[in-house]
Amino acid sequence: MSIKEISLSELDPRGFIAEQVRAITAAVGDGAAVNALSGGVDSSVVTLLGHRALGDRLKTYFIDNGIMREDEPRQIQEAFAALKVPVEIVDARAEFFGALKGLTDPEEKREAITQTFYKAVFGRLVKESGARHLLQGSIFTDVEEAVAGVKRQHNILSQLGIDTEAAFGYTVLEPLIRLRKPGVRLVGRELGLPEPLFNRPPFPGPALAARVIGEVTPERVSTVRQATRIVEEALCKSGAFQYLAILHADRVTGMRHGARDYGCQIELRCWDSSDARTGSPTRLPYEVLEGLADRITAEVPGVVSVTYNITKKPPSTIEAI
Ligand code: XMP
Repeated sequence: MSIKEISLSELDPRGFIAEQVRAITAAVGDGAAVNALSGGVDSSVVTLLGHRALGDRLKTYFIDNGIMREDEPRQIQEAFAALKVPVEIVDARAEFFGALKGLTDPEEKREAITQTFYKAVFGRLVKESGARHLLQGSIFTDVEEAVAGVKRQHNILSQLGIDTEAAFGYTVLEPLIRLRKPGVRLVGRELGLPEPLFNRPPFPGPALAARVIGEVTPERVSTVRQATRIVEEALCKSGAFQYLAILHADRVTGMRHGARDYGCQIELRCWDSSDARTGSPTRLPYEVLEGLADRITAEVPGVVSVTYNITKKPPSTIEAI
């Protein structure tokens, strides 16, 4: 891999910002650029960097792909409005669910999301806006895992030999590519990103689709979304690196009101980790786990079983697909 990491001890956030602003300005010239904001720390930092470099020549979109968390599009749009960065929400739900229909293989699901995002949705937005550049928040860890063949990371393209100009009609700029997550957080803080945003737990590019085993349908995403809200409410003060709910493909027999109920299974994961390269399950108090099982089975329709994953990464990965 030819990209050279900037370690946390080498990173000077202010110097880094100045250098990246110069690089973005030079690459885009007097043209325009677009970027997709998901509200995760990487895309949030890229949004602020890009706006510092290009002002309103950077058009920022929130792609509502139907697989984000509850109320996320509106919340992120509001948070950035407070930072004076306008964000346009693009409703692409039907396109994404159409592309995911019938797919169960994890790599096929990832590929469908990638193609819909970069080719269908962004191809169109770039054409409409006249922009030639897409700014995105890929980081060093994404490249490492994609190149090692661990997982097809949603946002890694050129490092896998994909010529974005030929494939999608635009050039991709990746100002954070030499940083890992802790470095990105420091740069975000220096750029004036509010603490809840620069310290947000990681969330995957393929969003809740990375947490649905089997077919990704609006109904199944709704189940995992409701469980995710409960897990995030319960564990946001746990100090854990990341916590998530996964919907399994298998159904199991349960019982409700004295009758048989053949329902869904939710798996919970909560990780201690510093950089997501390795991780171990957080030793959550038993009462917290029990409380989560009670709430999820009571509040999420159709769920009759809740389990807690006690496997380390490796061999597990943090997400399910
Ligand atoms: P994994 O599941 O590979 O995740 O252990 C490592 C970290 O990267 C975050 N993340 C992603 N994971 N596909 C993934 O599988 C993606 O496109 C992606 N984007 C980010 C993940 O949440 C974990 O923190």
